[in-house]
Amino acid sequence: MSTTPIKIVGASALAAALAVAVSRPRTVGRLVRCLVARAAGASAYAPLPPPQKVKVAVCQLNVTADKAQNLQTAKKAIQDAAAQGAKLVVLPEMWNCPYSNDSFPTYAEDIEGANSISVDMLSAAAAETGVTLIAGSIPERCGGRLYNTCCVFSSRGELLAKHRKVHLFDIDIPGKITFKESLTLSPGPGPTVVDTEAGRLGIGICYDIRFPELAQLYAARGCQVLVYPGAFNMTTGPVHWELLARARAVDNQIFVITCSPARNPSSSYQAWGHSTVVGPFAEILATTDHDPTIIYADMDYSQLAERRANMPLVQQKRYDLYALLDKTL
Ligand SMILES: *[C@@H]1O[C@H](CO)[C@@H](O)[C@H](O)[C@H]1NC(C)=O
Ligand SMILES: *[C@@H]1O[C@H](CO)[C@@H](O)[C@H](O)[C@H]1NC(C)=O
Ligand SMILES: *[C@@H]1O[C@H](CO)[C@@H](O)[C@H](O)[C@H]1NC(C)=O
Repeated sequence: MSTTPIKIVGASALAAALAVAVSRPRTVGRLVRCLVARAAGASAYAPLPPPQKVKVAVCQLNVTADKAQNLQTAKKAIQDAAAQGAKLVVLPEMWNCPYSNDSFPTYAEDIEGANSISVDMLSAAAAETGVTLIAGSIPERCGGRLYNTCCVFSSRGELLAKHRKVHLFDIDIPGKITFKESLTLSPGPGPTVVDTEAGRLGIGICYDIRFPELAQLYAARGCQVLVYPGAFNMTTGPVHWELLARARAVDNQIFVITCSPARNPSSSYQAWGHSTVVGPFAEILATTDHDPTIIYADMDYSQLAERRANMPLVQQKRYDLYALLDKTL
């Protein structure tokens, strides 16, 4: 096992379980079930029950080609958000790296290794400010592959979970645009549900928001909030970004947070911005335009029960006609 202070809680539990299996073979059956649960994103972290209200800060950062500057910008935003009383802080997709396939290999870090400067900064910032941190995403290098990965930190700076973007963005419109993430990145293994002091969160990255099945699965597993760091472009942003966030919210009667980088005129990729927090009635709780900023919202989790009682969609599903099948449990 690694001796670095930062460990994935699930991974260290897994290593401990393996050690048990070697010395006590009869526990192997239980171990296999445990491994399956871990692989499905179950968390070994047992937090206090979340408070009824959580103040969230969504940081729409100006991402540049200068990695050191991006780290400084993110750190300052986390500190500013905490100073405003936020308990949950969200960063955008690819906040340490320009959003271009050529940049991903250059800016990538080995998150589980000892030399990830982004993880070190994030862990220290979360611990120092006492916030739960959904750290957008960065390019991750692991076993010769690259992933688009979101790290989640506890208020003590522990790396609680890691979501690797499940649905890769591949488009090829002849004569117009080709962008194939899959040429550079590998897809993640599955959904990520993480229990934090700010509630039970389901994580998706950008294109993941277009797949309602993933959101339904998170809702079925008791998530209170869906968090999507993302960087929509200037074509799809205006028509789909807010619509998708509100659609996932209204379908599942759940809070939805989207967090985009700010639009940087000197960048080759022009992000739509418009980071947004949506409530379980699909109401916009906070939003913005494309400039660098931090937006805040108070999420009152008692509204989940209220909305679901007033309109009991879950009880009224016709599971004799269709089914939601979670293949990862
Ligand atoms: C964002 O970063 C670029 C450098 O990439 C800089 O030119 C620009 O002024 C920054 N925007 C703001 C609003 O700070
Ligand atoms: C980036 O994408 C372009 C166009 O799809 C491709 O030609 C290039 O090889 C890609 N670069 C990397 C590093 O994957
Ligand atoms: C944005 O992406 C869409 C596909 O999702 C593509 O059709 C469009 O051309 C892109 N727009 C820009 C400005 O790159």
